[in-house]
Amino acid sequence: MNYVIDKVLVAEEDIRRRVDELGKEITRDYAGMQPIAVCVLRGAIPFYADLIRRIDLPVTVDTITVSSYGSGTVSGKLKVITDMRTSVEGRDVLVVDDIIDSGRTSVALIEMLKERGAKSVRTCALLDKPSRRVVDIKGDYVGFAIPDEFVVGYGLDWNEKFRNLPHVYTLKEEK
Ligand code: IMP
Ligand code: MG
Repeated sequence: MNYVIDKVLVAEEDIRRRVDELGKEITRDYAGMQPIAVCVLRGAIPFYADLIRRIDLPVTVDTITVSSYGSGTVSGKLKVITDMRTSVEGRDVLVVDDIIDSGRTSVALIEMLKERGAKSVRTCALLDKPSRRVVDIKGDYVGFAIPDEFVVGYGLDWNEKFRNLPHVYTLKEEK
């Protein structure tokens, strides 16, 4: 099956406005702190780059590449493909991801960072599909809640395609 872009679900201008708000909220909540903002590669790249420039704090920038595989309602195992470079011990960590879907990635990542001694761990995701949740997690900062539809663009991919598109789109089957 091949998929092509269907409709714009979240437009660039709306993302920009929401990222501004999230940045302000994070700046307020972490006032006086020096959090580590971790970009979950690769889907969060554009969101992360935009967001950190809206956070008015001395943020430490880092990245992690993970893949999660779980079954049923367990959070599953998290495979770290490329790890962070900063130690999280005693630090306040903000995980920045593209989307919370089943929630497995977020839950496993939070667990891992806490095991490593992070003082606090919060998650920030551009998108959230609450109806798809299999593990109990609520993003601390969420850009947009969306329906159960596969989306691409602004970092999100289908088969490694469409990550560089400016808006978030739904897909349709190519006829
Ligand atoms: P999880 O199910 O919450 O662990 O989501 C894990 C990952 O699945 C996300 O970080 C995305 O990379 C990917 N994903 C989930 N839903 C979508 C989607 O609609 N489009 C593109 N990627 C998605
Ligand atoms: Mg991802």
